[in-house]
Amino acid sequence: MTMRRIVSGIQPTGHLHLGNYLGAIRQWVDMQRALRPEDEAFFFIADLHAITVRQDPRALREGIRAMAAALLAAGVDPQRATLFCHSQVPAHAELAWILGCVARVGWLNRMTQFKEKSGKDREGASVGLYTYPVLQAADVLVYRATHVPVGEDQKQHLELARDIALKFNTDFGVELFALPEPTIPPTAPRVRSLRDGTVKMSKSDPSDYSRINLTDPPELVSRKIQKARTDPEPLPATAAGLEGRPEAQNLVEIMAALTRRTPDEVCAEFAGRGFADFKPALTEAILAELGPVSARWKALMADRDELDRILASGAERARAAAAPLLAEVRRTVGLP
Ligand code: TYM
Repeated sequence: MTMRRIVSGIQPTGHLHLGNYLGAIRQWVDMQRALRPEDEAFFFIADLHAITVRQDPRALREGIRAMAAALLAAGVDPQRATLFCHSQVPAHAELAWILGCVARVGWLNRMTQFKEKSGKDREGASVGLYTYPVLQAADVLVYRATHVPVGEDQKQHLELARDIALKFNTDFGVELFALPEPTIPPTAPRVRSLRDGTVKMSKSDPSDYSRINLTDPPELVSRKIQKARTDPEPLPATAAGLEGRPEAQNLVEIMAALTRRTPDEVCAEFAGRGFADFKPALTEAILAELGPVSARWKALMADRDELDRILASGAERARAAAAPLLAEVRRTVGLP
């Protein structure tokens, strides 16, 4: 059986929300728990990605600790997985430069997330924001990742990583890079805003009522779900009946993912009932899953030195793991 290398990252800006949790973090933890002795997992805080837009240095430093605590609280185990900040492993940035010489401008021009994030002021966006998918490719390729657990919004970036890996291997006639597979959850791969079922739940949405944060107290979770946009129709008997009802579909998918059921099973339970019945049950399911994570998060945040120690020791392990591949890449390209 071939070795699995599971690699993924998250930006340290804002709090962990339900979209990150269901789209990515819970999968990280499930995959970490299923690791076999020959497998490895690398989970990192993408602090270099965070600075592609302006950041307050103090808030960034605190955000990194808060995110480390959130990942640990959610079940990332630094004994079984390597947890670190990618800025502390220079091989990521170094490989990103080399891969930037392999990637084509036309490929980057197709990245939809750059278009979304730069908005109308494309000329005024940082060069880092434009090239960051190349750094993301380096993030996974530097560990020869085989599996990359992410939400659906990262699929295009992973396809780019595969294209870059393949071009490098072909250009130099080597088999250096593994082609990473995105692992996207079957249910709720793209959790959407509670205010608008057509856009994704995101840290950058100006309305806090659009998302459930890990740090929200129970009363706030309940209020956000009560206020979540829905439609006046009752829930259908099967998930097919949610077609054209994006807000209803989103809430059903969230419920299904949280309770590890299919949307059809959730619809069967609530068929014919309105959202007045469904919403309290959804609040309960969110609190049952996130409540213990939130409590652990608070406890972990009390010891900042310990968080820094965990990240420092993870970085040391990650540096050692990345070094051989980087040396081989340099040799392959002809660098001294
Ligand atoms: P980031 O920080 O935006 O999101 C972290 C993870 O959460 C997932 N996610 C969602 N999943 C479902 N529904 C949502 N509404 C939702 N919002 C976010 C994302 O898909 C992601 O898996 N560029 C990345 C970080 C990164 C990375 C990497 C990821 C850097 N290097 C290498 C994988 C591999 C990012 O900004 O994710």
